[in-house]
Amino acid sequence: MFNLFNKNKDNEAPLLSAMFNYKKAPMTGFHIPGHNRGQGIHPKFKELIGDDALRLDTTDEFDNLGTLHPASGAIEEAQKIAAKCWGAKRTFFVTGGSTIANLALAFSITSPNDEILIGRNCHRSVLTGLIISGAKVNWLIPKKLDDWAIFGNIEAQDVENKLKNNRNIKLVWITNPTYEGVISDIEAISKICRKYKVSLIVDEAHGSLWNFNSKLPNCALRYGADAVVNSLHKTGGAMTQSSMLHLSKNSSFDENKVEHALKLLHTTSPSLLLLTSLDASRAYLSSSEGKNKLQNAIDNALYFRKEIQNIKGLSILEDNIDITKLFIKMQGLTGLQLEYILEHDYKIEVESASDEGILLLSNLGNTRAEFEYLIKSLKDISYKKYEATQKNVKIMPLIDPEIVMNLREAYFAPKEYVSKNDSVGRISSEVIALCPPGISILLPGEIIKKEHMPFLFNYDRLEVIKE
Ligand SMILES: Cc1ncc(COP(=O)(O)O)c(C=O)c1O
Repeated sequence: MFNLFNKNKDNEAPLLSAMFNYKKAPMTGFHIPGHNRGQGIHPKFKELIGDDALRLDTTDEFDNLGTLHPASGAIEEAQKIAAKCWGAKRTFFVTGGSTIANLALAFSITSPNDEILIGRNCHRSVLTGLIISGAKVNWLIPKKLDDWAIFGNIEAQDVENKLKNNRNIKLVWITNPTYEGVISDIEAISKICRKYKVSLIVDEAHGSLWNFNSKLPNCALRYGADAVVNSLHKTGGAMTQSSMLHLSKNSSFDENKVEHALKLLHTTSPSLLLLTSLDASRAYLSSSEGKNKLQNAIDNALYFRKEIQNIKGLSILEDNIDITKLFIKMQGLTGLQLEYILEHDYKIEVESASDEGILLLSNLGNTRAEFEYLIKSLKDISYKKYEATQKNVKIMPLIDPEIVMNLREAYFAPKEYVSKNDSVGRISSEVIALCPPGISILLPGEIIKKEHMPFLFNYDRLEVIKE
């Protein structure tokens, strides 16, 4: 049984303990949130989410639970233990997801016209951050895995070539792993960044478990990245929207500037439930029970990878991968069809689907029995005959961007709308990204090409720079 008050410091969860104390002995509150521990709220909503969730729905400043900006009390304690756990100089809790963490990094670290080198498969929040800061983007195009219609890893040699050819670049920003789990050689990339005296940010939104099991890749903090972002809510067991931003021990970034940016961009009413879930997920992943759960998730993923070798027509993305991400495709079916069949005929919900395949995650919360059912269902599907459909909507456009304007300038330039068909050759002024995975199809300042059209199926007209 997980022991909250275990003597092992790593298992201590100060915020979780503070919330238990608050639950036992609540104050009489005359403050926000006005439902006052669920006493003034729709009874059906209360029935839906439960008394305890409402009793504990509070924000910082009140009830002696500490503050987030500046960090104090149990919140500060919890952040310090998390920093120690990741080997970071400083860890910030974020309740607006890795989106806010990325925005804060862009806002605090980059200035107008700074040259930044970014993987083209970055999340749109990185680009939104650069629209705010006005920094100039240089693209690193990841390897294209055409058979899977996704971006793959970023080659260290490509990073070196770009840095050699443009000595003005001051920061490299890499997404690792990709949404589908493909990993880049961050150790090599980090060495190159140091050689050229350039900072490195790694958006590790999908790698928050890496710190806790040696069978998974190493967290970029171990290779000296200046900052790393983890979406603990995606796979780490924290509640939706809860992320962490870490600065490494040797980070060249000014921690006060990063904290200030977080303060400006973050809500002024952070949910204590979300903050506590970050403390709890870190403590759980450090505990023997949490470690076993993670080992089970890895074992289940390996089991799945082995068992599906016997399923006719099924293949899985294998090289350079975080083994817990399972991107599969089945001959004769598009990913979207396979998703539909699993959902409707087998009541199985996948992480995402594209024309090529489906993405499944082996999570802390999945059981071996669930994997057995999944494998049995896929076997079943492989025996059946389905009508083939045309592939037409790929999730990821693997098009090299043609940039003619700075992101920020293009975003704020006078604009007009044109019909999609008339937009070819014009300069886009909006961020268009399919979610998930939030990777951009078109950005402000890029030429719209014929090749973009199949990906713009949701659009009748586009926003372009006025001529
Ligand atoms: C690589 C990457 N970074 C950042 C984000 C934003 O994360 P969040 O949903 O935690 O705001 C995502 C979201 O999917 C992502 O895929």
